Amino acid sequence: MSLPGLRLLEKKFEAPIRLFELKRSALEKQIERQLREFEQKRYIHLDDDLRFIRSWLAKPLAIGAVAPSSKVLARTMAQYVDPDSEGPIVELGPGTGPVTQALVQKGVDPSRLVLIEFNAAFCRLLRARYPQATVVQGDAYSLRRLLAHFLYQPAAAIVSGLPLMTKPARTRVRLITDALSLLAPGAPFVQFTYAVVSPLPGRLVGVRSEASERIWLNMPPARVWVYRRQASSIRYRGAGRIQPDF
Ligand SMILES: C[S@@+](CC[C@H](N)C(=O)[O-])C[C@H]1O[C@@H](n2cnc3c(N)ncnc32)[C@H](O)[C@@H]1O
Repeated sequence: MSLPGLRLLEKKFEAPIRLFELKRSALEKQIERQLREFEQKRYIHLDDDLRFIRSWLAKPLAIGAVAPSSKVLARTMAQYVDPDSEGPIVELGPGTGPVTQALVQKGVDPSRLVLIEFNAAFCRLLRARYPQATVVQGDAYSLRRLLAHFLYQPAAAIVSGLPLMTKPARTRVRLITDALSLLAPGAPFVQFTYAVVSPLPGRLVGVRSEASERIWLNMPPARVWVYRRQASSIRYRGAGRIQPDF
């Protein structure tokens, strides 16, 4: 078929396709609403594995895992957060919320949570499950810009489930230095990874790091890394110099 012919055909189907997309989105919202009502009545979380796999199939690199984190991994991440500390607690890439749930179970007041998630369906789910939390749909790699309207004091902790290792080293360093600049001195930036090495390449002078044991009860096994800023300013020693501004 010629190019003008193809364009004509495309035009002919444009309106029905748009109508179909609208109907599909309305239907998806209706199903989500019914699922939420069902969950709320029975105090259960249905179907998270399915939601996750569906999102992973659509965007494997952005989701970064085929299943939500296990309870053991989520609890390990939450253990680094002091529920009695002062200030907001930020979670990056909460997904369907296993780490959020572990934080709440640890005693964190949900109204202190600022949840930053890219995926619209996950955001809808999080808003329904944690109505007191602030759910921000956006790109966590623009952390400082994104949090400018939500953070009025240093954060007490930043907990990240972002698939950091899918990003270049420079992006990872920038995210971690940005996060540290938003935290109170000594407060933790908590990140899990399936990799055997630290997600932070090189060394940040003025930053202390520690790692958990490997957590085998997770698919795939993972490790939790924690970074804390000790000095008021930090310097990066690695591939390329990065100057965080505090
Ligand atoms: C590996 S999953 C972890 C989900 C959840 N924290 C868990 O432990 O099961 C990564 C999550 O980060 C989200 N994500 C990926 N890139 C993001 C970005 N740039 N900004 C915000 N969220 C992002 C994905 O949508 C997904 O929900």
